[in-house]
Amino acid sequence: MKKYSFLILSVLSIQVMFAQNKLIQNAYSRKGITLNGKWNYLVDVYETGYYNYRWEPYDESENPGSGAFFLNKKPENRMVLIEYDFDAAPTLRVPGDWNSQKEKLFYYEGTLWYKKSFDIPEYQPDKRYYLHFGAVNYRADVYLNGKKLGTHKGGFTPFNFEITHLVKANDNYVVVRVDNKRAADEVPTLNTDWWNYGGITRDVTIYELSQTFIEDYSLQLDKENKTQLNGYLRLNGNEKAHSKVEVSIPELKLKQEFITDADGYVKFQLQEKNIDYWSDKNPKRYRVEFAAGDDTIVDQIGFRQIKTDGADMLLNGEKIFLKGISIHEENVMRGGRAYSMEDAKILLGWAKELGCNFVRLAHYPHNENMVRLADEMGMLVWEEIPVYWTIQWDNPETYKKAAQQLTELVSRDKNRPSVIIWSVANETPRSNDRLNFLTQLVQTTREMDNTRLISAALEDHGKKEDENVMVVEDEFARMVDVLSFNQYYGWYGGDVENIKNIRWEIDLNKPVIISEFGAGALQGFHGDSLTRWSEEFQDLLYRETLPVLARIPQLRGITPWILADFRSPRRMLIPYQEGWNRKGLISETGNRKKAFYTLQRFYKELKIKE
Ligand code: GCU
Repeated sequence: MKKYSFLILSVLSIQVMFAQNKLIQNAYSRKGITLNGKWNYLVDVYETGYYNYRWEPYDESENPGSGAFFLNKKPENRMVLIEYDFDAAPTLRVPGDWNSQKEKLFYYEGTLWYKKSFDIPEYQPDKRYYLHFGAVNYRADVYLNGKKLGTHKGGFTPFNFEITHLVKANDNYVVVRVDNKRAADEVPTLNTDWWNYGGITRDVTIYELSQTFIEDYSLQLDKENKTQLNGYLRLNGNEKAHSKVEVSIPELKLKQEFITDADGYVKFQLQEKNIDYWSDKNPKRYRVEFAAGDDTIVDQIGFRQIKTDGADMLLNGEKIFLKGISIHEENVMRGGRAYSMEDAKILLGWAKELGCNFVRLAHYPHNENMVRLADEMGMLVWEEIPVYWTIQWDNPETYKKAAQQLTELVSRDKNRPSVIIWSVANETPRSNDRLNFLTQLVQTTREMDNTRLISAALEDHGKKEDENVMVVEDEFARMVDVLSFNQYYGWYGGDVENIKNIRWEIDLNKPVIISEFGAGALQGFHGDSLTRWSEEFQDLLYRETLPVLARIPQLRGITPWILADFRSPRRMLIPYQEGWNRKGLISETGNRKKAFYTLQRFYKELKIKE
């Protein structure tokens, strides 16, 4: 028994050695070798390629059997039994969810194996190599040339592994086991109102790096002092300690050298009086160059301050109103996960056409193209982790998963000026465990980034003594910078003709964002304005709701639910839903519904209280 446990320990320690590495900052801008394209796949409902017939994981054994898919075995001769063959298998496009690519995988929730063979044409033995995934939903076990690199959980955030020791110039193969089964203790949990798209849903790239490279950095405008930039930089590699690094912003004729500490880390400040501040009306970004040894990385960074002052929201000291819309990460015409810059241009283009200066990227981190394009367009952004509905509040492992996803999101987007709000939850049922869970998430967020605002989509309800008076009774409301809540009066309860009589009693002196309201409508279905599912009903709800919301004294933003119809397994009413949530202002054929123009007109005519 002793020998056996030693064996397990040594295998696990190897796994730890190959566990994920810290996220490479701004991988987006590095020259990489893309592994996007066609990958062979095997659907493995019984996880035959992961467990032996005694249900022991092959990758926890020193001598995994020939049935282990990650070995990508081929029979040495005509006598040998190998019961799988990736190269004879069909292919899926990466990036991309499997549900929208293959009819047979439309509803699939389970394990599916991907395999990609590749060479590195200009392989350099003195370089370091990393394998980077934009996201995999939900769990990824990653293997290179038959060796396990590690495991990542969380369907919407990037991760990377160093592969220097394993990668070669030719004949490499990467195998990824993806499992998108939902589970009660995961984040999100079992129940969501969106499609559980599985697969390698974002870019896969190999990065070739110097022996000592710039692993992480941050550069942001100080929250109080508008002529000071605060930054840090961390090197990774043998030469990281006491090394010279250089930060420059050519347009500002700023160039300074700093020396890293023994851990390759340096914190610094830059003073500059002539900064042209980033804003929604002036999305000014600067080329920032970070150099260390033979490594240079360039980023486009905008500098701005976002703060609250009582119930006001201030962008660079000026009051703003967030004319927003909620968005799911779906290319609605393709009916699958959005992932590309082209998808981002469609979604943010529609938001711009609506007259928005703000988008709520619900309910999970969207792909990086969305925030990079938002930076460029001057679109302010609310980002969120999928702590959604009935998460396991009393489970420490569940908390770690939520905190990990939050950390990966903040790490990836900390230099993006468009991101002004981190949201830690959506519509979560009140309890002490939930309050502790969310309070810890807020503290974790502030420790990582105290330059942005924190919120969460809470819920409201009518007062017992007067159903027309709505309140938000939630002890968590005092923990956030911005009080946001979803309200569906007139759709889920309440009479659409009574909307004009409702009002909110909010006694917090904080900015308020209505993070959701809306109604379902089948585009092209017309009736009188009290006929549910008609465009006219949805439009009436918008026309009645918007002026009532505008009467909330602390109102500083609205993100109606939702820009476009989106797939949901919970929405099955024939003929109106048929697997789609119909609260979109745009249908899956790209057609705008009546309410689109009502919201557009409201934003156009909105007078911001100066
Ligand atoms: C909730 C939830 C959304 C959901 C919406 C709806 O507010 O936050 O995820 O899609 O209501 O019921 O359509």
